[in-house]
Formats: sequence, C-alpha cells, structure tokens
Amino acid sequence: MEKYQFTQQDMEKLARETAGYAGRLGHAPTAFVQTFGCQMNARDSEKLRGILQEAGFAEGADETADAVVINTCTVRENANERLYGHLGHLNSMKREHPEKLIVLCGCMMQEPDEVERIRRKYAFVDVVFGTHNLYRFPELLARRLSGEKHVFEVWDAPQEMVEELPKKREVPYKSGVNISFGCDNFCTYCIVPYVRGRERSRRPEDILEEVRRLAADGVLEIMLLGQNVNSYGKGLAEPVSFAQLLEQVCAVPGIERVRFMTSHPKDLSDELIAVMAHEPKVCRHLHLPMQSGSTRILKAMNRRYTKEGYLALAQKIRAAIPDIHLTTDIIVGFPGETEEDFEETLDVVRRVRFDSAFTFIYSPRTGTPAASMPDRVPPETVKDRFARLLDLVQTIGSEESLRELGQTLPALVEGPDEARPGRVTGRLGNNVMVHFDGGPDLTGRIVNVKLEERRGFYYLGTMVP
Ligand code: 5AD
Ligand code: SF4
Repeated sequence: MEKYQFTQQDMEKLARETAGYAGRLGHAPTAFVQTFGCQMNARDSEKLRGILQEAGFAEGADETADAVVINTCTVRENANERLYGHLGHLNSMKREHPEKLIVLCGCMMQEPDEVERIRRKYAFVDVVFGTHNLYRFPELLARRLSGEKHVFEVWDAPQEMVEELPKKREVPYKSGVNISFGCDNFCTYCIVPYVRGRERSRRPEDILEEVRRLAADGVLEIMLLGQNVNSYGKGLAEPVSFAQLLEQVCAVPGIERVRFMTSHPKDLSDELIAVMAHEPKVCRHLHLPMQSGSTRILKAMNRRYTKEGYLALAQKIRAAIPDIHLTTDIIVGFPGETEEDFEETLDVVRRVRFDSAFTFIYSPRTGTPAASMPDRVPPETVKDRFARLLDLVQTIGSEESLRELGQTLPALVEGPDEARPGRVTGRLGNNVMVHFDGGPDLTGRIVNVKLEERRGFYYLGTMVP
C-alpha cells in the first residue's frame, strides 16, 4: 500500500477557518474529544486531538466545549445505543448554543444504516467521517467552518497508509503505536473486519521511527496496537514477524516497557513466547481472548482453535514465562451455546486461572454470520450464565492477580491517588495497580515498590530505593 505523508496544506486551511470561528464565538474555541471502545480508538482520538490543537482549538473539559467530537464504537449493540442517548443531550445543548459543532467518527460511522439514521433523525450533526479517512478530518472540519452544511464523508475501504499525523498524547509517559490496521479473521460474531477493513501492516521502519521519536519525547512505555498483532507483517515487501518487530522496539534506547494488544491464540508463535521470555522490557502481561471454552462453539465462531489447543497454549506460555499475568475476553450466549458448552468455558477458566477477564453478553451485529444463526440463547439463560461466569472470574482473579505479595517490583507512576492525598498510583508490568506514599512529582517515573498488602484487585506498597 502507498505511503501518504500528511500534508500541512489542509492544516493551514483549518487553522484559518478556526480563527474565523473564534471571531464568531468571541473567544478561542474549545474542543472535547470523547472516545468509546478500544485502544485503537483511543490512539485515533490522540490524532484527532493533535489536529484540533494544531488548528487552534483549546482542550475542553467536557461536552460543554464548542466542538464535541465523538469517536464511536460499534462492537456491541449497547455502544450504539449509548451514542444515540448522548446525541439527544447534545442536541439540546446545541439549541442553546447554535455555533456548537458536533462531529462523529469511528467504527459506527462505517455502517451505512447508522449514517443514514443520523442524516435523517439527527440533522444537527455537523461532520461525519469513518475509520478509513480520519486523516481527512482537517479538510472536512474546515469545509464545515467555511459554511458548508452537513459534511459527511465515509469511505468503504482504506485508500492509503497515512503517516505523520499530528498527535496529542493523553499522558506524556506512555503511548500506543499502531502496527497494523483492520482484521482478516472474520470471527462470525465480530463486526470489526467490516468497519476497520482488511488487515494492513505498517512498515517496520515507520513504526520504529515513531517509537524513537516518542522515546526522544520522554515516553517510557509503548503499547503496540493491532486487532491481531500476532499476524503482523503479512503483505509487507519484506515480511517481518511480530516477534522480530517486538525485539526491535525493545531495542530503542529510552523505551523501558513494551506491551501489545490484541493477540489471537491461533497465530501466537513459539518465536514470540521466546522473545517475551528473554526480553525484560516486554511486560509480564498477555491478553489472550478465548471467547469460549467449547470447541463446538469456537468452530461456530470461526476462531480456528480448540479448547485443548487453547489450554495447551496457555500452559506453554506459563511454563516459559512463569510470572506472566494472563487475561482474556469471553462471550456468553453465542447462538447455540448449551449448558454443556458453557460448562466447558467455566472449565477453561478454572484451569487457566486468568488474572482477570472481560466478559461480554453476545450481541448480534447486522451483517455478521452469527446474527442469522439459529438457536438464540434466551435472555434469562444468558443472564444466569453471565452471573455465574463473572462470579468465577472474580473469585479466581482475586486469588491469583495479587500473587506477587512481598516482592519488590518496578511500577510506572500514573499520578496522584485520587482517593488519598499524599499517595500515588503506579502500574506494574503485569498490569496490576499499586498505591503507595509519594508526591505528584513521581508521575511518569518508574520506581521500585515493595508490595506489602493486598486490597481487592490492587496492592498497597512502599517505594524503596
Ligand atoms: N458480542 C459480544 N461480544 C463481542 N466482542 C466482539 N464482538 C462481540 C459481539 N458481537 C467481544 C470479544 C472481543 C472483544 C473486544 O469484544 O470478546 O474480544
Ligand atoms: Fe473481531 Fe476476531 Fe478480528 Fe478480533 S480477531 S477483531 S474478534 S474478527
């Protein structure tokens, strides 16, 4: 795929239009970017914030800002419902403040039915774009500010790989870095391949250049982002494996910690396990979505592994990296799921003993194969199973996730502990939080902390030299 360098021309046009907007408002405009969904969207929102900042918008604290940008998610139906609830509220705010700008983007805008509904019923929305043309935001917003009404532009496929977008990081000490976009797996319940398109890998030299720049800017922790990082590198002129890329990222001076998200069990290689085992900068945390413990349901989900395969993989990882924390995603109530299938899921949870698990109720997504599968599970049964699963994952999580009690481990300080003055909150490599005495000046530093007390799902500790 062609590489496209983001041009300054559109930015300059937007900056001019923003100055005009400021004149009409009588003050410097503020913008608030709200993110729904996953880490990918969070990273996209940093790009949106970077563009807005460069154009002359100040950062607004909430929806009262002059411009409200909502980066939407559509992975489950409740994400869509939340957006519409939200829009009602924004509409009444816009009636009070007619210059208010409402911009919608992200995954949900890749669904033509939703965009049509917005066009018809939510005519107060000013700008709409999708996941493939995010870099056109400056041009689209400039057109709206110059007087054009309803600037809607959504592409059904990506056209080029865009590098060099301005970005405004949420925090100075850590950052996500996209390594691939889209997904080719077509799990039958999942809408992502339809709204994010086919899998495309960024070139390793572009990724490493971004990581080097972030390191020079003070970033200590990198989260490599892709729908399926383990299949990174396919289709590149010179194919590179994810394990090789991970090693190269770890070698960048100044980078202290590297995480990645998300791993598909079917593509997780021995090579990756070996790199994780010997590379101390790779965080001792692996998110490995299992979705179901039933081989029959996994097949219907098109996950391309079995219960036994998943168990063997988890065992292999634990054997190679004994201090790893494993987390997972599980869907309850996939069409055709029987009590026996569900028991298989509970069985895997008991055997793997996840440190934590995100549990989801199956949500039919229009256009996906599972949405038209027979044998929907009745809602009461789903509710009952969901409660049983949640109870089990929480019990096991509270037993397992704080097993380092007594050890001294490095923690990256994320900031003051909101609940108690004089204390800060840090994150361990395994993703568990620890609270300890310290001042706000520790924020963004990696310090050693003795883990002294377990509290629910976090530790209390003391900083040691
Ligand atoms: N219904 C319920 N959960 C879903 N997920 C993805 N699609 C659906 C759906 N249609 C869950 C999967 C995935 C996580 C990000 O969201 O568990 O790993
Ligand atoms: Fe969706 Fe499956 Fe791709 Fe993950 S791997 S984004 S669940 S299709």
